[in-house]
Amino acid sequence: MSANSRWFHRRYDRLMEPLERRSFLPLRTALLARAQGDVLEIGSGTGINFPLYRNVRVTAIEPSAAMREQAEARIRQSAVPVTILPGTAERLPFGADAFDTIVGTLVLCTVPDAVQAVREMKRVCRPGGRLLLFEHVRLEHPVWGPLQDALTPAWKRLCDGCHLNRDTMRLLRSEGFEIMKLQSLWGDIFIAVEAVKPAD
Ligand SMILES: C[S@@+](CC[C@H](N)C(=O)[O-])C[C@H]1O[C@@H](n2cnc3c(N)ncnc32)[C@H](O)[C@@H]1O
Repeated sequence: MSANSRWFHRRYDRLMEPLERRSFLPLRTALLARAQGDVLEIGSGTGINFPLYRNVRVTAIEPSAAMREQAEARIRQSAVPVTILPGTAERLPFGADAFDTIVGTLVLCTVPDAVQAVREMKRVCRPGGRLLLFEHVRLEHPVWGPLQDALTPAWKRLCDGCHLNRDTMRLLRSEGFEIMKLQSLWGDIFIAVEAVKPAD
């Protein structure tokens, strides 16, 4: 892990706190209220979602040891059982159809291979199970979209691999998820999505 990543991981909660308080927390709370049964959260970071879950069992995977360490305090604040494991979204250490709900928040922007990550999320989700995502995405706008493309190489270096220009909705549709609910925030930069893995 680079020195920049270590710096980023140690300060992540402090950097995000103003956004979380003003905008993100209500959105996370509403999204996670739709989680059911056995939940897999990918890239759980410092565990900001853990205290928001109700009446579910959570397994989380997070590749960064520094993030997992910070998440321990949030596991203690959680109302539900949470188990956190090292791992990456592109190679989930679980069998097919193992979870009722898959959750990812601000994570598909960062995983190096988002296509493989979504395939894995679909594989481990049971037929009829839900995918709950909160992400920032590339805009369709003729000026802002290309600007996001141009800024992404520098942004990635600064922000631990984060892409400003992931086309997450197109990816979900092309991998066969059915979109049930789509909510936009901040002029479509952020999206909250509820999708379903179709029953065969
Ligand atoms: C921007 S942070 C978001 C953390 C948390 N999900 C949240 O909502 O605040 C991105 C997270 O994705 C994790 N990550 C990076 N590469 C990953 C991968 N290949 N698979 C799963 N998670 C990954 C990072 O370690 C980090 O915790």
